[in-house]
Amino acid sequence: MLSDNFFSFKIAGLSFVLFVLCTSVISQNIVRQNISSSDRIKIEELLKKMTIEEKIGQLSLFQSDGDITGPAMNNNDNKYYKLIKEGKAGAIFNVYTVDNVRGLQKIAIEESHLKIPLIFGYDVIHGHRTIFPIPLGQSCSWDLKAIEESEQIAAMEATAEGLNWTFAPMVDIARDPRWGRVAEGAGEDTWLGCKIAEARVHGFQGKDLKDPHTLLACAKHFAAYGAPQAGRDYNTVDISQVSLYEWYLPPYKACVDAGVGSVMTSFNEIAGVPSTSNKWLLTDLLRKSWGFKGFVVTDYGAINELVNHGVATDEKQAAGLALNAGVDMDMQGSTYLNSLTDLLKEKKVTLKQIDDAVRVVLEAKFKLGLFDDPYRYCKKERQEKELMTVESQAFARKFVARSCVLLKNDNQTLPIPATVKSIAVIGPLADSKRDMLGNWAAAGELEKCVTLLEGIRNHVGKDIPIVYEKGCNTNDLDKSGFDKALKIASSADYVILALGEEGEMTGEASSRTDLDLPGVQNELAEQVIGTGKPVAVVLFNGRPLTITKLNNMAPAILESWFGGTQAGNGISDILFGEVNPAGKLTMTFPRNVGQIPLFYNAKNTGRPYNPKTPDEKYVSRYIDVTNDPLYPFGFGLSYTTFAYSGLTVDTTGNKLTIRVTVKNTGTRDGEEVAQLYVQDKVGSITRPVKELKGFKKVMLKTDETAVLTFSLGKDDLAFYHPDLKKYWEPGEFIIYIGTNSKETISTSVFLN
Ligand code: GLC
Repeated sequence: MLSDNFFSFKIAGLSFVLFVLCTSVISQNIVRQNISSSDRIKIEELLKKMTIEEKIGQLSLFQSDGDITGPAMNNNDNKYYKLIKEGKAGAIFNVYTVDNVRGLQKIAIEESHLKIPLIFGYDVIHGHRTIFPIPLGQSCSWDLKAIEESEQIAAMEATAEGLNWTFAPMVDIARDPRWGRVAEGAGEDTWLGCKIAEARVHGFQGKDLKDPHTLLACAKHFAAYGAPQAGRDYNTVDISQVSLYEWYLPPYKACVDAGVGSVMTSFNEIAGVPSTSNKWLLTDLLRKSWGFKGFVVTDYGAINELVNHGVATDEKQAAGLALNAGVDMDMQGSTYLNSLTDLLKEKKVTLKQIDDAVRVVLEAKFKLGLFDDPYRYCKKERQEKELMTVESQAFARKFVARSCVLLKNDNQTLPIPATVKSIAVIGPLADSKRDMLGNWAAAGELEKCVTLLEGIRNHVGKDIPIVYEKGCNTNDLDKSGFDKALKIASSADYVILALGEEGEMTGEASSRTDLDLPGVQNELAEQVIGTGKPVAVVLFNGRPLTITKLNNMAPAILESWFGGTQAGNGISDILFGEVNPAGKLTMTFPRNVGQIPLFYNAKNTGRPYNPKTPDEKYVSRYIDVTNDPLYPFGFGLSYTTFAYSGLTVDTTGNKLTIRVTVKNTGTRDGEEVAQLYVQDKVGSITRPVKELKGFKKVMLKTDETAVLTFSLGKDDLAFYHPDLKKYWEPGEFIIYIGTNSKETISTSVFLN
């Protein structure tokens, strides 16, 4: 049975399930949300009434006094509420709750000249009040429906608190875990990244943005922000056009095709041209070639930063470059506010450019229904009823479990045996509410977050004594807690070790050069494991870690990422065997930082390493470590086992119909993510050794088998050529299917 809609919501309010079902069904065939002809007329009439200052005001986005999500800007005289009153701010971010939003909207509607409603944005990245696993963790669920439903819930909660715009989804493909923002994405694979991007946009925007439960989404960070040299945030991106088209651009295109209402420019340059002043990227590609109809907003102060990039002598020139490139809205930089009037007078920009930018911003506000009712997102009763509902918590708990990845489980250390009479919980991540929420935790409520220790206690109740010691801090050299930790480990039947990073060690401006466990955690693990007790490690992190030392010591490792509000409960459901883990890595775990970038869909090179002849000298390898990762893309264990057989490929109709039999050969029911990879053996340019082209997540009872069918057409086998045209080439294709990108069965076919 395919685990299609695995959540059985216990519905208190029928409206919720109807909302989820109808949007999730309809959102599959989303249509680009156009503006009605009557609204178009209203926009043109409004444009005629607007002064140039008021037009520029619509192109200016300012932060409120809420979260600070960027460097302090030198616009301290531009107090946002003053600007709203003067019609010089069209949008505000980092403010929520009905009262706060209503207060600012009231200024716009009652005190400004033209009473144009504001749009309110926020980084709703993995939930609003109910915080779900970080996006990288969610991607390891390989559950597109769950990902879409999590965004529907996030949109419901955010709009219940006055918001109507989220700066998400982040769809930057990344192959370098030194970059802390891998936590916000969907890992290293472009094909999967596109599927997840589409699911997120559908989840946020639903079928009609006029539905007050939906959020205007924002595809970010356009483009290729995930490929900074040395994995250092904001650093230079310098990649070939073919790589840009093949690996980095598709997820943004997937968002545009899904009808995303806005796009955010990235901080980085691409081959010498900063995205925020890149006319080819923002106008020729995004609008003319892809047909994007929404508006383009910069990242935080990105126009100002064109001066640092060295493409503008001052912020005024930077503003002109940005508008001419196709940027519609300036986030927090005040550059449009300060310079567009002069640039217009100097004929460095045109009134048409300004009107075109204002038009797409006003269209978004009409699509959101803000001109019908500026307070449509300010309903107290929704704020009281729709936040952190029982259904949302149940969903979150299941999503935590589905995002976890079982990396190691020697001697079936997990699940915790029912015979265990006492459990010691040790480690700096065992009882930390703050860390469970991870980065970009939006309006997540710390006090409602369930830690691992609380989740374990919730699970066992009074039946089993649970003792806890922190043992050490996450990231310092203090070992004074070791003795107490070893004492409780020695006297317990079973030990849970909670190790990893702090929640804020990933996310923006959080690149690291050492990806091993920080502080003295490895030493704590060595001594606790040295007691000889059964030990299971639960890892809390926002990026792949080079946990080679830990991996050599620990009998069992469960990757839990940062699970959010229900982290402790969801992880405990796996530890005690309520849920059989089925997560699969969407990013490669390297053995050490020296191997980075290390990703599964690499090229073969002219001198490939052959593990069958490990001593061959003149091949592409290291002399101090294997080429192989610690854990490959697609990897994840289960409490049961699966076997693959009977792989066949039918080429009738010049397409590939692939069939494979999967059997549950273990002792427990479980879900398996069967992955389909293809290798194009010979091409006019080099091709990766494997490329993910499909997957199926299937629930199988013990001894049950399923025949899975995949279908691939020529378009699925197409790739970008140096002329940037995408087409397939006839020849031999190797078809791989398996439980991860390394463990597969394969067959070869020829297509003409
Ligand atoms: C930050 C981030 C971006 C976020 C924005 C607003 O600098 O780069 O992802 O949406 O500012 O908070």
